[in-house]
Amino acid sequence: MITSLPLSSSNDGFDDEALFARIADDLTHRGFSIQPNALPLAMADELLLDLHQTRDDEFQRAGIGRKDDYLTNDFVRTDTICWIRGESQAAQTWLNWTGRLQRYLNQRLFMGLFSFESHYAHYRPGDFYKRHMDAFRGEANRILTVVTYLNPDWHIDDGGEMVLYQSETDIEGIQVTPGFGTLAIFLSEEFPHEVRPAKRDRYSIAGWYRVNTSLNGRIDPPR
Ligand code: OGA
Ligand code: MN
Repeated sequence: MITSLPLSSSNDGFDDEALFARIADDLTHRGFSIQPNALPLAMADELLLDLHQTRDDEFQRAGIGRKDDYLTNDFVRTDTICWIRGESQAAQTWLNWTGRLQRYLNQRLFMGLFSFESHYAHYRPGDFYKRHMDAFRGEANRILTVVTYLNPDWHIDDGGEMVLYQSETDIEGIQVTPGFGTLAIFLSEEFPHEVRPAKRDRYSIAGWYRVNTSLNGRIDPPR
């Protein structure tokens, strides 16, 4: 007799534990972790649906620099973004999952991750984000970058790779294909990276865990 089994059991926390452990091991040994097709499938589906339901006008040109010196720069990046504020069920699921990853990494690696911010990003065909760092030592408080991709049936010929460089002088890098559910996690201050132009629309979520650097009663991070 066939009893009904959940189609995807990858959402039940037990599987996440194994994934979180692989991420923690990679971070310990290399400072980055690339996990193809790793996002719990039910959550990835939910996020893709949420993305499709987000209106075009909710996406805005992405800036460079921090809040105070926010400016757009066509030379550096041309994508549009929509901050995830937890208003939809999908966003709640995502923030819950990233929260569990945060607690796991804090317990195992003592990273002191304090808050998390993330946005959807839409790269139209030809859009790019030139080689950059997400944080500069001693300046910003972004510690750990998490990127995941929501592009079903992505083909290698579609382009749109994220290239992760191992150091300032590395020019070869590691190419990450932005396929559905792939996760790329790396120390924000250590790895220059870029997004190469794609032939089709490319969707990702980029997020950052931050440490608490509140000084003199000024609350930072502001969110
Ligand atoms: C970023 C970024 C990478 C990607 O938003 O800072 O580097 O593959 N994104 O979308
Ligand atoms: Mn980046």
